[in-house]
Amino acid sequence: MSPGADPGAMPGKVAEATAIAHPNIALAKYWGKRDVASNVPAVPSLSVTLAGMRTRTTVAFDAALHEDVLTLGGREASPEARARAATLLARVRDASGERRFARVVSDNDFPTASGLASSASGFAALALAATRAAGLDWNPARVSDLARRSSASAARSLFGGFVALGTEPGSDGVLAAESVPAALPDLRVVVAVTSEGAKATNSTSGMLRTQETSPFYRAWLDVAPRLCADVRAGVVAGDFEATGRAAEASALAMHASAIAAGVVYWNGATLEALRTVFDLRARGTLAFATMDAGPHVKVITRDADVALVATCLRSVPGVLRVLETSPGEGARLDPEGHR
Ligand code: PMV
Repeated sequence: MSPGADPGAMPGKVAEATAIAHPNIALAKYWGKRDVASNVPAVPSLSVTLAGMRTRTTVAFDAALHEDVLTLGGREASPEARARAATLLARVRDASGERRFARVVSDNDFPTASGLASSASGFAALALAATRAAGLDWNPARVSDLARRSSASAARSLFGGFVALGTEPGSDGVLAAESVPAALPDLRVVVAVTSEGAKATNSTSGMLRTQETSPFYRAWLDVAPRLCADVRAGVVAGDFEATGRAAEASALAMHASAIAAGVVYWNGATLEALRTVFDLRARGTLAFATMDAGPHVKVITRDADVALVATCLRSVPGVLRVLETSPGEGARLDPEGHR
């Protein structure tokens, strides 16, 4: 055992697991916390999990460590990112009796912390890998609840396709996301990347500032559940246009409430891309825009219109890259480990 190792830990075999998770994009947004300490959302949300971008995370509990260590994209993570991962790992240790610290190695094949939902895929993959490495055989709902305590959107990335997250924990405190039976097989999401850098205000500080100071936060709380119900009804009925309209309305209402608190995630290219989506629609193409806590514009469209939408977005000044994505799988273990 190395100096500084936990003297109570069992020396010997490292306990390791690797998980893959995809980001998700909320069609009905979560913005605001009903309970900050247990990270319960103020409003219901509904998302689609996206293939085409992924996080891969390996967790190894190792008696040689004297603290949790986190490598993101080949580099030592910031103290803030490490602390957030350590909080999740501490919950796993409490539940499992595992006493060793963990080495976490994670990478994304898309920009980290830039509003492309890296916290969603990141905490979903971490929750799954950590519980398995600690020998906990939890069902997806329980892993989703664990991920939700670190990042509410991460609760949704445990599941594939269309996924809902509510606002009412059960009597046991568990609040997990759940799959929504959907009838929109040709829905696609085209992502216009407008910046490769990390965002200035993370989603937690952005939403707390909104709920503390925005004159429009109450209006957001009033409208969000109805828009979420409209998105759900559209998804279940296979009504693409109703889904897209409600999704765009949810994103615009969320950002309006945030902007009124001085929380502005958009850049110039965000507005130009938004205008391009409105123009496409005026010319008869069903395309709808949504933005999260970052400057990228995600366009909800149908398979037949992806090429046109992508071409138009590529010509928008300030759009750096365009990614074409479709509904993807939920988080899963990777038996091949980290590559
Ligand atoms: O889960 P968090 O803390 O990263 O917050 C996510 C907030 C939004 O992405 C803007 C909306 C959502 O529902 O994903």
